[in-house]
Amino acid sequence: MTAELEALRNQAEAELQKAGTEEDLQTVRTRYLGRKGLLTALLRNIGNVPPEEKPQFGKRCNEIKEELSARIDQALAGLASSRRDEVLLRERIDVTLPGRGTRPGRVHPVTQVREEICRIFSGLGFSVVEGPEVELDYYNFEALNIPKNHPARDMQDTFYIDENIVLRTHTSPVQVRIMEKTRPPVRILSPGRVYRRDSDISHTPMFHQIEGLLVDRGVTFGDLKGVLTAFLKQVFGDQTVLRFRPSFFPFTEPSAEVDIQCVICRGQGCRVCGQSGWLEILGSGMVDPEVFKNVGYDPEEFTGFAFGLGLERIAMLKFGITDIRLFFENDLRFLEQF
Ligand code: DAH
Repeated sequence: MTAELEALRNQAEAELQKAGTEEDLQTVRTRYLGRKGLLTALLRNIGNVPPEEKPQFGKRCNEIKEELSARIDQALAGLASSRRDEVLLRERIDVTLPGRGTRPGRVHPVTQVREEICRIFSGLGFSVVEGPEVELDYYNFEALNIPKNHPARDMQDTFYIDENIVLRTHTSPVQVRIMEKTRPPVRILSPGRVYRRDSDISHTPMFHQIEGLLVDRGVTFGDLKGVLTAFLKQVFGDQTVLRFRPSFFPFTEPSAEVDIQCVICRGQGCRVCGQSGWLEILGSGMVDPEVFKNVGYDPEEFTGFAFGLGLERIAMLKFGITDIRLFFENDLRFLEQF
């Protein structure tokens, strides 16, 4: 029996040597130490061992059981730790490598100009409001005294959604929406996108405008000149030379366009100003009594002025950009310069 016991031990030892996986090890454990295992069976047969050998046999049996069990546990622990090492090796990162880095973004030049203008007019007591880009024909044209046969309504210029709905062609309709629901005094500035069917080096189908409106008792053309002069000198510098040129808009009477002396050639005449020495900057005028009537203001009681300008145009002049399409190409090499 003792010889049998030692043989079993050697056999188990040999199998353990070969066991390469957790599963193999568990198999060895079950085969020798399990309830129906070989060693367990041998111990159960202790009755067949001569009485004087029994203590020695039992002791040896337990020794072998403990030894085997400890060897198996040790081998299992070894496997687990080499698996961990493998994972660590596979997932190793080199913390000394330089990071990828995120380059800081820039504020788009058109946004910069919008923010600057809004800041200037906020300082003059104007509040910034917005209106819809998909607009009723009524607000975009009718209420602004733009008659049905006006060229601005041509399909060539305006994106029509249907007979009564357009993509707004200017920010002026916001004037009407605001006046409809407020009583004077009104001092608003309204930036936003506008749409026209036009596309070349100085036109894009979508561009940005800012509309301004001031209505109160006793507002005069002098107020218009004063406010717009202060504004343009803040944007283009104190030395800026301005001129107010008579013009026509259906929603203002009288109307004026405001030019600044060319910022490129200082009035000498160049390509940018078409040799005229002047750059057209904005449209303006005293709000037409017809517009006041449309919003329920008494033109005998209230007067006011309005103006509108294109943001891309201002940004082009400020930053010396010669092609308006650059604003919308999202080319970082362009955008990073501002
Ligand atoms: N709405 C005009 C345009 O898109 C600009 C404009 C001119 C707005 C005169 C005004 C104004 O408020 O009084 O060209």
